[in-house]
Amino acid sequence: MAKSFYLTTAIDYLNGQPHLGHAYEKIITDVLARAQISLGERVFFLTGLDEHGQKVQQAAMAEGKSPQAYCDDLAVEWRALPGALNLRISDFVRTTEPRHRRVVQAVLTKLEKEGHFYKAEHSGFYSARQETFLTEKDRLQDGSFDPFYGEVIALTEENYYFKLAPHQDWLIRHIEENPSFVSPEHRRNEVLGFLKNNKLEDLCVTRPRSRLGWGIPVPFAPDYVTYVWFDALVNYISVPADHGDPEVCAALALPAACEGVEPWEVWPANIHVVGKDILKFHAVYWPIMLKAIGLSLPTRILAHGWWQRDGQRMSKSTGNTVDPLAVVAEWGIDAFRYYVVRELAIGSDGNWTDAGFAARYHSELANGLGNLVNRSLSMLHRYRDGVVLRKSDDLAAEAASAASETASHLRDCQPQAALQALWSLITRANQYVDQTAPFKLAKDPTQAIRLDEVLYTLVETCRVLAVLLWPFIPATAEKIYAQLGIDAAPDEFARSSWGGLKVGHKIGPIAPLFPRKDQPKPGS
Ligand code: MSP
Repeated sequence: MAKSFYLTTAIDYLNGQPHLGHAYEKIITDVLARAQISLGERVFFLTGLDEHGQKVQQAAMAEGKSPQAYCDDLAVEWRALPGALNLRISDFVRTTEPRHRRVVQAVLTKLEKEGHFYKAEHSGFYSARQETFLTEKDRLQDGSFDPFYGEVIALTEENYYFKLAPHQDWLIRHIEENPSFVSPEHRRNEVLGFLKNNKLEDLCVTRPRSRLGWGIPVPFAPDYVTYVWFDALVNYISVPADHGDPEVCAALALPAACEGVEPWEVWPANIHVVGKDILKFHAVYWPIMLKAIGLSLPTRILAHGWWQRDGQRMSKSTGNTVDPLAVVAEWGIDAFRYYVVRELAIGSDGNWTDAGFAARYHSELANGLGNLVNRSLSMLHRYRDGVVLRKSDDLAAEAASAASETASHLRDCQPQAALQALWSLITRANQYVDQTAPFKLAKDPTQAIRLDEVLYTLVETCRVLAVLLWPFIPATAEKIYAQLGIDAAPDEFARSSWGGLKVGHKIGPIAPLFPRKDQPKPGS
């Protein structure tokens, strides 16, 4: 079996409820994953939870629970998120699982044996909130530390460190030679600038158990647990190892898949999707860890921007977060998926406003797509009993160019541009209705053949659109296929070629896809 196309999201800290930012990252990754499925790849899509470390330990203490009980309770809600967002995940990792722990420990053992670590005492300023030592360089102009770091204390501690200096030059070269290793471009420049202008400081990979108990025990140092970031990054290989990935299992001398289970070849990752705030961990520390372990590097690290709400940082304390599940309950999953992908190019920051969301819903989904599908299919029902009688190529060229542009933007990890390209076909088809005026043709018996052609063109365009839309709004695409009376899923890009509907095909019953929500209900 060939290697699967492997995509990951960051794994979320289990110290609160999911919000728009978490949902956004998962949705864009799902769109890219479904695009690959549609293009014929076998896909492995991983997401999950980051459960160790100080943040989680503190959140558990605040609730008077043990960290494990706290995680188990909260994980139920997080575990439901992929389903609620209609993600096609292949697995879901929790870093407290034994299958993850054994790989973290195998990595630590290997790197220790091969001389990548040393033990040293360090005195400095420590941010408990960010679980990191700070340096003089981190001070603001007035001498204080950014409130982002929370309380900063002076601390002297012995820990294990990972030597990073030997890795700086090859990493710079790798990023220079592989332009899409870090994208978008401005983020790549940022990482290169950081690597070229700073000497990498060694990474502290342990925490004394006496100070922080909630972590994976370090196999060669019983008084220590693993630094939460070292632990978390390993999830990207611990799950492949669990599925018997040959490269990971061989590098760590782990037993391959259980007997009778075919090993699933997934490593290296094709795309790690992460927020801009955690790019350094993924574009600097993670490649170095992989190189030291002896594993191939991922193909692309895709850094997305951050959402605000009403121009302000979303935060639990001010209560101005966007609850993805509430939006989904009110507007439907596809309206939410559509909006977040359409609103932002990957890399840009976004600003959620309820009014902006409602405006796109009405103009683009209800009036644009919904109206096109609804009127095309209802005219075929009204004028031809739901049966297509004659082929036509009126919009074949437009459909083909929308399809090829959509696919190429998706391959390029630009889902917003892909949506814009395919939307040009929706706009064009709505224009075509106005230009050809089928409701007038229907009144003139001499125009019967022309009406057949126009109806075919419209209904076939809806079919092509369903295929192109599937990675973005899969449930809607499937509804369009069902309304077209096609007993298959629109999940193969190859089906977007013009002419799929055969003469004599009868479509199914129809229903509005995106009902308007801005008109007063009758009687109110
Ligand atoms: N646990 C670490 C990641 C470890 S990956 C090996 C972490 N967790 S997090 O819960 O704080 O963030 C998870 C992801 O959500 C990150 O990629 C982060 O950038 C993203 N977002 C969190 N808030 C966000 C917004 N307001 N907007 C967009 N994405 C944001 O970091």
